[in-house]
Amino acid sequence: MSKGKFFITTPIYYPSDKLHIGHTYCTVATDSIARYKRMCGYDVMFLTGADEHGLKIEERAREAGVTPKEFVDGIVEGPGGIKALWKLMNISNDRFVRTTDSYHVEAVQKIFRKMYDKGDIYKGVYKGMYCTPCESFWTESQLVDGKCPDCGRPVHYAEEEAYFFRLSKYAEPVQKLLESGTFLEPASRVNEMINNFIKPGVEDLCVSRTSFTWGIPVEFDPKHVVYVWLDALFSYASAVGYMNDNFPGDYERYWPADVHMVGKEIVRFHSIIWPAMLMSAGEPLPKKIFGHGWLLLEGGKMSKSKGNVVDPYLLAERYGTDSLRYFLMREFPLGTDGNFSNEALCNRINSDLANDFGNLLSRTVSMVEKYFDGKLPADRCPDPADEELIGMASKLRDIYEEDMDHFGTQNALIEIFKVLSRANKYIDECKPWVLAKEEGNRARLATVLYNLLDTLRICMTLLTPFIPESSEKGLQQICATEFATWENAARFGVLPPEAEVRKGEVLFPRIDIAKELEELERLEAAKRKAAAVKPVLPNVSIDEFSKCDMRVCKILSCEAVPGSSKLLKFMLDDGTGTPRQILSGIHEYYKPEELVGKTVVAILNLPNRKMMGLDSNGMLLSALKEENGKEKLHLLILDDAIPAGYQIC
Ligand code: MSP
Repeated sequence: MSKGKFFITTPIYYPSDKLHIGHTYCTVATDSIARYKRMCGYDVMFLTGADEHGLKIEERAREAGVTPKEFVDGIVEGPGGIKALWKLMNISNDRFVRTTDSYHVEAVQKIFRKMYDKGDIYKGVYKGMYCTPCESFWTESQLVDGKCPDCGRPVHYAEEEAYFFRLSKYAEPVQKLLESGTFLEPASRVNEMINNFIKPGVEDLCVSRTSFTWGIPVEFDPKHVVYVWLDALFSYASAVGYMNDNFPGDYERYWPADVHMVGKEIVRFHSIIWPAMLMSAGEPLPKKIFGHGWLLLEGGKMSKSKGNVVDPYLLAERYGTDSLRYFLMREFPLGTDGNFSNEALCNRINSDLANDFGNLLSRTVSMVEKYFDGKLPADRCPDPADEELIGMASKLRDIYEEDMDHFGTQNALIEIFKVLSRANKYIDECKPWVLAKEEGNRARLATVLYNLLDTLRICMTLLTPFIPESSEKGLQQICATEFATWENAARFGVLPPEAEVRKGEVLFPRIDIAKELEELERLEAAKRKAAAVKPVLPNVSIDEFSKCDMRVCKILSCEAVPGSSKLLKFMLDDGTGTPRQILSGIHEYYKPEELVGKTVVAILNLPNRKMMGLDSNGMLLSALKEENGKEKLHLLILDDAIPAGYQIC
């Protein structure tokens, strides 16, 4: 029977770039908690999604030469995209909301209208400092050294007619909410919110934009699009049917959310703006916001622009999804920041998964096979030496439950591994290989192996939310799948006396750490290089392409253009009999004399262009590469056997 409902969410991710290990961390943490709650018997709704509107996406799409919708479709649904990453990471979300989904668009328009009709949204003029990458307006007092307090980048003055939400009206009730109970966790974040954002004075919030169009139009004033944070926050509610008919009964069943898991930099939006908007809309508030820390790289923030993002695909494909999931949850406490390193990952895989857990499982299964042909006899011979292990295994579930209910995912894993370590010690103490030498010890040997199997059953049941696939395989090896329930995890002695095993694959092979670190470095460098290559532009028709007259040309002469450090002047034989003059900005890469006589390709039918007072009748083709923000050109030089005038087709 269900223990009730449990609605948990991740933030909805910006599909402006591929996601990295930091995003994966947040989703794996939420997934582990969702799986835990399901195991306990809750009716879980686990929601994730994509936050697809806003100026940043519009700009990225323009750079890529596609429409914003095509752009986000590629990152959300395409190969190597968000949904594919969650599939690879074995994420068990029940729903995926995209803010371009029509039910969500409809809901946001209705919500905006509702708050406007109530007088909580009004029209005014916005004047202030704006950070384009964060899509946030800031007051002077919020800036840090004159820069955006979130990302540290420059801001600029901006002014626009806009709609405002009366956030100031809700400052007091929001402060009360923050101060009362456990709405925001960890508790340290409460003071941060009150001191940094409420005490300095809460101003009304600008909730529409006219400076770009990629957003949800305000239905009664469509030159405005809805501010991306209002749009995004309401996806938590629209995805369970708030203000739309897409999910009948779900809003009544699941709202309010039990937990919104979010990174620390967006706690402000979730713990101040979000409850204020819900108060305005007259809807129940979420029960909890949990603000987790960041994964850092060498102490600093990961970011695409710094080129220091860690690729979860590469790691999961190389070491397995569960190894990466386990590492993320075991290495870092949820509340605070942690430093990611490949070395820490490899060490964890070897010490915990390969040694303490994997080895214990395979040794135990092998011994049951070797000494009892895979099935224990029912005879028992208990001994005081068993008591500590049995005591620890029996108490594990309650300790684990206490940790998991308070977001202590790291502690929960530490507790499981204390029991696994104790089991390893128990093998050393009981020495089954010595017991096996005497026929009279068979009942004692069976008892020892039974205790190990039943300890493994409890541990693997409780590991399931973290490493679902490996736990399942491990439980199959000890024929315990049907006993792996939450209720059974609190009891020792659940496996039948004639417990059986079925040997399977090694779950976590040991890795050669030095070799792996070298290899990872090489693979990551190769990925970074590939990521620097520009995306393919949208298709052109063959007719459009063939309008371009590209021909093989011979360089008759080449000289520097006086007064220009970049330009070279070429006279070319293009096969027509009349020499052709073309200017090209490649002097920094070539000496003029080394190019004379070379066979190259030129586009001949471009409009005439004047540079430094000289005519250029066409363009030489070069390969262009951007390296560290600088462009580098390589002239396309062909085989000299091709005569001038040949057309490229
Ligand atoms: N779209 C908004 C969220 C709207 S929710 C209504 C957004 N998106 S995001 O893609 O930039 O970030 C999503 C989440 O990823 C945030 O919670 C953020 O903290 C988290 N992380 C991004 N980088 C991270 C790390 N390096 N480490 C841990 N989490 C990180 O914000």
